[in-house]
Amino acid sequence: MEAKKFVSGFSKMTKEEKIQWISSFYNDTGKLDLNMFEAFWHQDEALQTVLENFSENTISNFPMPFGIAPNFHINNKVYAVPMVIEESSVVAAASSAAKFWMDKGGFNCEVLGTTKIGQLHFKFTGGIDALYEHFDRIKSTLIESVEALTANMRKRGGGVLDIELVDFSAQEENYYQLRVSFETCDSMGANFINSVLEQFGLELKAYLSNLYPKQHSEVFMAILSNLTPNCIVRASVSCPLEALDAISPAFSGTEFAERFRMAVRIAEMDPYRATTHNKGIYNGVDSVVLATGNDFRAVEACGHAYAAKDGSYSSLSHCTVEDGTFKFWIDLPIALGTVGGLTKLHPLANLALELLGRPSAQELMTIIASVGLAQNFAALRSLVTTGIQKGHMKMHLKNILTQFSASPSEEIAVNSYFTERVISHSAVRDFIMDLRAQLEQ
Ligand code: MEV
Repeated sequence: MEAKKFVSGFSKMTKEEKIQWISSFYNDTGKLDLNMFEAFWHQDEALQTVLENFSENTISNFPMPFGIAPNFHINNKVYAVPMVIEESSVVAAASSAAKFWMDKGGFNCEVLGTTKIGQLHFKFTGGIDALYEHFDRIKSTLIESVEALTANMRKRGGGVLDIELVDFSAQEENYYQLRVSFETCDSMGANFINSVLEQFGLELKAYLSNLYPKQHSEVFMAILSNLTPNCIVRASVSCPLEALDAISPAFSGTEFAERFRMAVRIAEMDPYRATTHNKGIYNGVDSVVLATGNDFRAVEACGHAYAAKDGSYSSLSHCTVEDGTFKFWIDLPIALGTVGGLTKLHPLANLALELLGRPSAQELMTIIASVGLAQNFAALRSLVTTGIQKGHMKMHLKNILTQFSASPSEEIAVNSYFTERVISHSAVRDFIMDLRAQLEQ
């Protein structure tokens, strides 16, 4: 074991000291350019402090592109949507799908529910009947015990909605759960929910110990659940089949619609395809979630669990082609906030929410579901017509040109040469090198 590689007090070091330590840890050969860390510090020290305080042991910032997808026509309002994503083609695809649906009624969205869930996991040796017998009283005692904690949320129209007793004792002896439903209005509500649950834990333990001093009661965990099937929004688009005629010279609107429906159907049936299909949806969803300072891990975890709700992992989106009409929609469970957390603290998340007109959480749900649906539409449109690589490689080509610092004339030559040829990193590199070699001759 290399004891010298262990460190204590790392978190107490300054950024400079941490970088120096990293250098001694990783940079024996001196080949790594650790100055890069400092190069990405924000010039404004106060802003840098804000950023680094979001996390721990920070030594630098990791920039990501902040883009805009305009022309999102959602519930009769038009948005230019901020998206933070590193993958090329995503913002372009969202923008192109938004533009396509812009004059076809846009995205129609409905928030189907906003309930969030928390769980109190506990053991009790007195049996389920004893718990049921006292459950009404336990419930009101718990709710009374958090009156001070929930006062503000109740003023805003939220709070604890209900408490359910769930019996897991057949799977694990004496194990039960309180499943608590919450309304947290415009906040994501994680801290609120966890604080309420922890208080419930103390109260429940005291209540049961008092009532059944000879029985064992023990609270294990109090934590929100990221599975929120009743915090959900539906976004849909629809149009007559003729409106799809212009999509591809190779297919009529009716043929395109059938190919598209089939692509969705495959994702409904096959988890291998569904995973990629839903990943495409989350290209859009995550990028807006990230831009608005929300928790993309929570949003993804929920969506994927929901996608498996019928026992097999499946598509989050659905499509019908009936009576001359193409209909495409998504049911997206998504718990997020537009107040609290990073939404105000992160200057760019705050600005993103300002751009969107400081939406309520429900309005943001509709925007994000629309972007997810648009992303899915754009991906399937390419997949069932030209194939995905055409658009992807165009963007990839742009990145390769940047990497080789191509001049404007080189860009023109490369773009024209690769119009009808297969783009690969090595082919583009060789072409640029040949061009430069020719010039030197
Ligand atoms: C790539 O990031 C996303 C796609 O693979 C989605 C899909 O296949 O539906 C293009």
